[in-house]
Amino acid sequence: MSVDVILGLQWGDEGKGKIVDCLATDYELICRFQGGPNAGHTLIFDNKKYVLHTIPSGIFRENITNVIGAGVVIDPITLSKEIASVEAENIVVADRLRISNRAHFILPSHRLLDKASEMAKGKSKIGSTLKGIGPTYMDKTGRNGLRYGDFFSPNFMTKYNQLKEKHLGLYKMYPEVEFDLAAEEEQWFASLEEIRNIQQINAEYFINNAITKGQKILAEGAQGTMLDIEYGTYPFVTSSNTTTSGVCSGLGVSPQKIGDVIGITKAYCTRVGSGPFPTELFDGTGAKLQELGHEFGATTGRPRRCGWLDINQLKFSIMINGVNKLVLTKLDVLSSFETIKAATAYDIEGQTTYEMPYDLMDHEITPIYHDMPGWADDITAAKEMAELPEAARAYVDYIAAEAGCEVHIVSNGPGREQLIFNS
Ligand code: GDP
Ligand code: IMO
Ligand code: MG
Repeated sequence: MSVDVILGLQWGDEGKGKIVDCLATDYELICRFQGGPNAGHTLIFDNKKYVLHTIPSGIFRENITNVIGAGVVIDPITLSKEIASVEAENIVVADRLRISNRAHFILPSHRLLDKASEMAKGKSKIGSTLKGIGPTYMDKTGRNGLRYGDFFSPNFMTKYNQLKEKHLGLYKMYPEVEFDLAAEEEQWFASLEEIRNIQQINAEYFINNAITKGQKILAEGAQGTMLDIEYGTYPFVTSSNTTTSGVCSGLGVSPQKIGDVIGITKAYCTRVGSGPFPTELFDGTGAKLQELGHEFGATTGRPRRCGWLDINQLKFSIMINGVNKLVLTKLDVLSSFETIKAATAYDIEGQTTYEMPYDLMDHEITPIYHDMPGWADDITAAKEMAELPEAARAYVDYIAAEAGCEVHIVSNGPGREQLIFNS
């Protein structure tokens, strides 16, 4: 058996949480492989809304084990709050959740450094979620990090204090920021005790044994391909590999074990935080997309920047990840636009290109658009492709043809049941 993958093909918030929750019943194991509390994955069912940051989106389903893999970074404060919100639904999280002993901890002083580093960057700030992601991955690659397994070691406090001291030294380079380190630490250690009962495992063995036993496994990505540390819009990216390759390193599975790669794309584009976004709209159309799509960050509440679908960018993400199935979310948001546009290429100083440039900040990029007629009907109750207006079906077919990838599922609303299988 292999590991199927669900990941974002744009700048995050494509609807990964909803799709994982919808497809979870086909799987026995759901595993997060990278990222941390910078993620905000929204699940809506039984008229309730849940936002998960670190816990995989299979947690509300019975008979599924959820694994936080080695590539994830964990803040006990966020995790213990999430556990409490899930347990409020009478779910015993410890029965359903396992944590890799190799996953790294986010310390309060990582968050302090994230805040100070952003402040020092001024106008060129990344627009980080301020969850301490960058500094934690820096310590991981710098070989200074504190891992979940260390929590159970007699040297835990020594390691913690060494790392904190290093951070306080670094902090001297930065402008002072408002941050009550003592209070944050108190909460951090209290939260750590609250998550003590979540079993730590050698997740790489756990997952590979599950593969050998023929269990069905789903890897859940966080962020999106354009936020990948390698292939995203650097430096306006996150600090992990958000792509299929991140599944192999983050879970300890070999590339031969990767099965379906299910790429999620919105029917338009959004981005939260700073950085280039070629199809961004600064006019009323962008504002309308934001309003109809309720485009506000699930983690930070910041408004998301909006624009038309960028097929040039989408094809790049499909290539990098080896996507064989596309999921098109938020198609319902496009109902009521007279014309719908999708960028098929970029004009960069008079040259037409069908590739993603390595740097999108260096030159002025003008998207070249293809126009299509929109539709006016509400599509949120549709259950089959045949129920969609002709123009909506034409848009889906156009994306599949341009992207060279089958659209497997169309999502037509935030609810669990609002899903149309196209094949
Ligand atoms: P994720 O980070 O990829 O899991 O996505 P987020 O949860 O951050 O953002 C997606 C938002 O869109 C959430 O508010 C979802 O409830 C909502 N959503 C997901 N799919 C659809 C859809 O097909 N239509 C609409 N209107 N909303 C959707
Ligand atoms: P999900 O999983 C959207 C963005 C931040 C910022 C940049 C770096 O919900 O799709 P970081 O805190 O990682 O150092 O921030 O990445 N970002 C996201 N944008 N969705 C996310 O996650 C994101 N996680 C990080 O806004 O621009
Ligand atoms: Mg999100």
